[in-house]
Amino acid sequence: MRSMPRVNLIIQHQSYEDYCRKNTQAEENRIYCRHGSDHGLTVSRIAYLYLLEKLLEVGVQDRQEQMPEIDKEIVYAAGLLHDIGRWVEYETQEDHALVSARISLPILRDCGFSSTEVEMIALGILEHRLSPDKTSSPLGQALALADDWARDCKNCPSQETCYKYSKSMEEIII
Ligand SMILES: [Fe+2]
Ligand SMILES: [Fe+2]
Repeated sequence: MRSMPRVNLIIQHQSYEDYCRKNTQAEENRIYCRHGSDHGLTVSRIAYLYLLEKLLEVGVQDRQEQMPEIDKEIVYAAGLLHDIGRWVEYETQEDHALVSARISLPILRDCGFSSTEVEMIALGILEHRLSPDKTSSPLGQALALADDWARDCKNCPSQETCYKYSKSMEEIII
């Protein structure tokens, strides 16, 4: 099992903790899915599983060339940070994908990610709200899919009015 020292620095980072707390406060009365730190962690794990499955399809030897994003720390960093700007969207209506990508940058640098890695992670975060077939990066696609698969729609009491809900959302894919 590969340890993730830089990801563990993220979850201890003061800004990360502050933003997660602001999301929790802003969504205190939300009846739909919330976006606290647990959501980020779940999306990280599902996105990583998805990418590993894809890796098995393309062949492990092509990993670096075809999908450099399938680095455990890169995927987890992107998953943990993809919604950290939600609270800003509630205040200003700015798209939280843009906000989250932007406010992730100093955290990622503080935690030791290289500029190439930071770019890759920021692009994934920027793309996480796109339709999965419209993303330009495997990481963006993985986050977009994992974001849906992370929800327990079958047992959600708010499914009737949720814009995300459809019968197919009840299926467990991964
Ligand atoms: Fe999001
Ligand atoms: Fe999300």
